[in-house]
Amino acid sequence: MTTNNRANFGTKLGAILAAAGSAVGLGNIWRFPYMAGEHGGAAFILIYLGCVLLFGAPIMMAEFVIGRHSQSNTARAYQKLAPGTQWRWVGRMGVLAGFLILSYYSVVSGWTLEYICAAGLGHFADKGPADFVNLYNNFVGNPWIPVLWAVAFLLITHFIVVKGVEKGIERSSKLMMPLLFLLLLVLAVCALLLPGAGRGIEFLMKPDFSKVNGSVLLSAMGQAFFSLSLGMGCMCTYASYFKPNTNLPKTALSVSLIDTSVAILAGLIIFPAAFAVGIQPDQGPGLLFVTLPNVFQQAFGHVPFIASLLAVMFYILLALAALTSTISLHEVVTAYLHEEFRLSRGKAARMVTGGCIVLGTLCSLSLGVGRDYTLAGMTLFDLFDFVTAKLMLPLGGLFIALFAGWYLDKKLLRDELTNHGALRLPVYGLILFLLKFVAPIGIAFVFINELKLL
Ligand code: PHE
Repeated sequence: MTTNNRANFGTKLGAILAAAGSAVGLGNIWRFPYMAGEHGGAAFILIYLGCVLLFGAPIMMAEFVIGRHSQSNTARAYQKLAPGTQWRWVGRMGVLAGFLILSYYSVVSGWTLEYICAAGLGHFADKGPADFVNLYNNFVGNPWIPVLWAVAFLLITHFIVVKGVEKGIERSSKLMMPLLFLLLLVLAVCALLLPGAGRGIEFLMKPDFSKVNGSVLLSAMGQAFFSLSLGMGCMCTYASYFKPNTNLPKTALSVSLIDTSVAILAGLIIFPAAFAVGIQPDQGPGLLFVTLPNVFQQAFGHVPFIASLLAVMFYILLALAALTSTISLHEVVTAYLHEEFRLSRGKAARMVTGGCIVLGTLCSLSLGVGRDYTLAGMTLFDLFDFVTAKLMLPLGGLFIALFAGWYLDKKLLRDELTNHGALRLPVYGLILFLLKFVAPIGIAFVFINELKLL
């Protein structure tokens, strides 16, 4: 019964498309630029690329192997592959991480809905950089509106996870992804042509390694896990729907490549534009929302209709990209509650949505009326982001690498990666080396360095 429910979601959605849809989202377009902006630009980006190659791609392969071989949700996967051991906690921690991420991710997803309306109603017309900063601050500081949008976004996600409108999503994703990419390309060209954009390019391309400290390393590593949806069992759950002949290493590389290209492209829009209009790149979570409207205005402001049309299109595509990610987060938690606690899928999903509405509301308020309530100097929003992206996901990734590299039977690992010998995989030894040594030691090093564990 349970397998049917999940297969229903997975196979119809198109498992590989789902994996790419989960990876590409706000993490690339909203989070990547502000993280890079806060941590000095080019050096951060190089370290991020290193993390994607050395940790991200092999750990994604490991999640694929675990998911496809066990054919179960992330928590049960470990119970099947390592019965009676404590490895199941890796799956459980992932579920918790998914729940926490969904809570604050929905808040930002809600912002995209507000910006669709604002752009469509012509609120960007005749405005300048300072106006966009005010627009953003007033909106985020409002106690009601962002909360309502976050709830709306969660309800849309809920509806899709429960009712399953996979066909529609599959079709729209196939169209949406290339369209999003195309629009990002157009916007990058526009941003690069803005007077003063050169300093943004310099910021993106000229690394200053003297600024690299433990916090930069941890942020770049966390960003890699967050952006690739790794370390929490999302890719593992999706891989349980893959076909026996799906090429796992190739799929992992394609998803990583698509995801990274979108992030870099977002950087090529945000930084040239930010420098051109005099916005500091270390704005924090508002960076995308205060910078991008300037590109529409400055490049197309003389034809207001085109400016609005492009802006609306962009925010709709961004909302859809966020939606395929929120669905993946919701699905991991819902599948877990449904299968492990024998709740109906509807009930499981309602619990997830309800919980996220409560936590999401608190996260949203923590950016406005509640901004004075901080823990370790962080608002609740920042705290959720820190604990999940910088701690739980890399920690999950560390254990997944250890599990695949050391615990799992090597014949099983090789069989899954080569589809029982059908694929040639000359780099098998390299993948195993990365999983066994490079990823665990690297992640542990970054943790020790930043969190001063020793
Ligand atoms: N990778 C998604 C993004 O970049 C976010 C996400 C993280 C989704 C973890 C699922 C799991 O937007």
